[in-house]
Amino acid sequence: MSKSKIKRIAINTGGGDAPGLNAVIRAAVVSAEKRGWEVYGIRDGYNGLFLPERYPEGGVIRLTRKNVRGITHLGGTILGTTNKGNPLKYPTKGKGDKWYEKDRSDEILRAFKKMKIDALIAIGGDGSLSIANEFAKKGLRVIGVPKTIDNDLDKTVITFGFDTAVSFATDCIGRLHSTAQAHQRVMVVEVMGRYAGWIALNSGISGTADVILIPEIPYDINKVAAKIKDRDRGHRYFSIVVVAEGAKAIGGSTSVIGKELGRAERLGGIGETVAHQIQDLTGKETRVVVLGHLLRGGAPTTFDRLISLRFGAAAIRALDEGKSGVMVALDPPTVRYVPLADATHRMKTVPPNCDTVLTARDLGISFGD
Ligand code: F6P
Repeated sequence: MSKSKIKRIAINTGGGDAPGLNAVIRAAVVSAEKRGWEVYGIRDGYNGLFLPERYPEGGVIRLTRKNVRGITHLGGTILGTTNKGNPLKYPTKGKGDKWYEKDRSDEILRAFKKMKIDALIAIGGDGSLSIANEFAKKGLRVIGVPKTIDNDLDKTVITFGFDTAVSFATDCIGRLHSTAQAHQRVMVVEVMGRYAGWIALNSGISGTADVILIPEIPYDINKVAAKIKDRDRGHRYFSIVVVAEGAKAIGGSTSVIGKELGRAERLGGIGETVAHQIQDLTGKETRVVVLGHLLRGGAPTTFDRLISLRFGAAAIRALDEGKSGVMVALDPPTVRYVPLADATHRMKTVPPNCDTVLTARDLGISFGD
C-alpha cells in the first residue's frame, strides 16, 4: 500500500555527468508512471527554474515512458547538468558588477509549490546531494541517487559511473603498454577523481601499472624514479605511471588549475609535473596522457546500467514508502537507504591500508612512498 499520496515528482541531474544518468532517469520515470505519478525533469540542475528563457521547449519538461525510451545505454543526460548552478550559492551580479554567491533555495521551493511538485529525485555527487539535503531540511520530500565517476560518496559501496570510468581507463592503460615498450619510454597517465584515488587505484592495478600515485598516499618522486630505474636494471625498459589528478608529493599541495565563484576548484597538471621530474631523474623519455573528460563519456558498462536502473527504481520505491532525506545506496547484495546527511558528511577516500592497496603492493606496484 502506498503511504506517499504522491501525484507529481521532479527529477534533476547535477554536477559532472556520469555514464548511467539516463538509465536512472528512465527507471525512475517508468516506475513512477506505473504508480500513476507524473514526472517533470528540470533542465541543467536547477537552471531550468532560474533561467527559463534559455529553454525554448521549457526549463521544466514532462517526462513520460515515451520520451525516456531507448536511453538506458546512452552517456550524458537528457536533462543536461551543470556544476555552476548551486541554488544555495548562486553566482549573482551585485552592485558595481561585482559577483557574489546568493542563496536562492527558497525560489526553488516556491516554484515546486506552484507546480504542485510533491517530491524531488536529485541525482548527483556530494555537491548536488548536499544541496538536496538542505532542501530536505527545509521540508521538501527528497531522495538522492549517488552519481560520480570519482566514487567518493560515502555510505554506498559504489556510485554509478565509476565502473565505466575505470573500465575505460584500464583499456587506455592497456593500450599504452605496447607503445611504451616499443619506445622504451615512461608513460604517465593522469586520471580524474578529485581528492580520491579510486579511479587511479582500480585502473592502475587492472591495467598493470608500475606506479600509482593517489591523493591518499603522498609520494616521494625519488622513490618513483627509483622504481623505474629498478625496472631498467631488470631489463624492463618501459614503465607505466598512473597519477590521480589530486595526487600530491609529500609536503606538497594539490595541483589546482583554477577556482570560479559558485563552483569547486578545478584540478589538473600533476601528470605534466610528474613526467618532467621522472625524465630529469631517470634520463628516460617520458610522455603524458591526460584522460580527463574521456572518462565521463561513452555508454555505461553493464554494471553501471544495472546499478543505475536499480537506483532509479529504488528511489521511486523509497518515495512510495514515505521516505525522504535519504540516498539510495548499494550495500551488496541489496540497495538500502541512508540519510543524505550521513552520505555527504565526509568524502569517501581510499583507506591507505585497504586490501586493494595491499594487493597492489603485493604485486610490486609502487605508490612512491
Ligand atoms: O567529479 C567528477 C569530475 O569528473 C572530477 O573527476 C573532475 O575533477 C571534475 O569532475 C571535472 O569537472 P569539470 O567538468 O568542471 O571540468
